[in-house]
Amino acid sequence: MSLLLSPVKIANLELNNRVVMSPMCMYEVQKKDGVLEPFHFAHYGARALSKVGMIITEAMAVQPNGRITDNDLGLWNDEQADKLKELVANLHSFGTKVGVQLSHAGRKAEDADVLSAPSALQFSSDYKQPQALSLDEINDIKNAFVSAAKRAEQSGVDMIEIHGAHGYLLDQFLSNLTNQRTDEYGGSLQNRYRLVHEIITEIRKQFKGSLWIRLSLTDYDDSGVQNSMDDWKQVAKWLENDGVDLIDASTGGLINKAPNFPVHDGYQTPFATDLKQSINIPVSTVGLLDNPGLCEYILQNHQADLILEGRAMIRNTNWLSDAARALHDHNFKPYNASYERGQK
Ligand SMILES: Cc1cc2nc3c(=O)[nH]c(=O)nc-3n(C[C@H](O)[C@H](O)[C@H](O)COP(=O)(O)O)c2cc1C
Repeated sequence: MSLLLSPVKIANLELNNRVVMSPMCMYEVQKKDGVLEPFHFAHYGARALSKVGMIITEAMAVQPNGRITDNDLGLWNDEQADKLKELVANLHSFGTKVGVQLSHAGRKAEDADVLSAPSALQFSSDYKQPQALSLDEINDIKNAFVSAAKRAEQSGVDMIEIHGAHGYLLDQFLSNLTNQRTDEYGGSLQNRYRLVHEIITEIRKQFKGSLWIRLSLTDYDDSGVQNSMDDWKQVAKWLENDGVDLIDASTGGLINKAPNFPVHDGYQTPFATDLKQSINIPVSTVGLLDNPGLCEYILQNHQADLILEGRAMIRNTNWLSDAARALHDHNFKPYNASYERGQK
């Protein structure tokens, strides 16, 4: 039996296997109201039938201007939460666990009229100029994350992932590259971590499920300003202390730069492995992990605790069945007897 396709427990969360669908925005909300549509039920339902251990929804914005585009999902009102409850029940009925990713796009909100950010620094000339948030607005955003988490909990999700990566608002707070504030939310690493700390602490008080955070562990920046791995290790220790159950290790997206190292299969995994060695909570890895043999190798060698699949799962709904074939894992049981015939 492979590790990849065998069950695992992350704190109190039990997964049937170690494959998780990575959050991926679909930009399919035609009505622009942030509410799940039939597309999403079919899209996530197909992956649930593939027996993926857990599905993490695409980013759900906590405020309307926190969407990347107006076609994104949201979780700032009860109508959105009611539909999420339906989706979660539907996916649970197929045996998969469900996580939601909560996000605010900050200065990377493409369709918003007013962009908010820790400091008034544009992402690039293609983006609008953001406004630096006031302390009251920061407080509103914190409350928006906490309210969205309450709605997620009421919808029955197993896990909430805070999007602290890819240059969206919380990532913008964490880095000196994008945060030049002189108040308690800027300056030292501890000050830059303050908003994440406050959000995580508040959510942890009320949410009994699994609490994850996604971080970008490098910004592909050679100027010496980006957070170093030592900084991220410190942040991860604080997160562990604040009650986070898993760090979802990713990279990039904060500034307009491409990777400054070769992008090959598993290119982000060394960052996850490095981080994992300095904390006591699990770390997941993501990024060009299409090859099941590589995924198995990563798990066997304790380089990461969970594997997230993004684009591979867009291309191949039944990625898990193919992985079972590649790994000769005869214990993997497809959804039903008819699906099982596809294995032969
Ligand atoms: C279409 C698309 C949408 C994405 N949307 C999100 C998102 O909503 N939240 C997020 O954290 N990452 C998002 N990502 C990044 C993926 O979750 C993943 O980290 C990345 O694609 C690398 O993994 P992969 O090589 O398995 O695709 C998106 C990626 C793609 C391709």
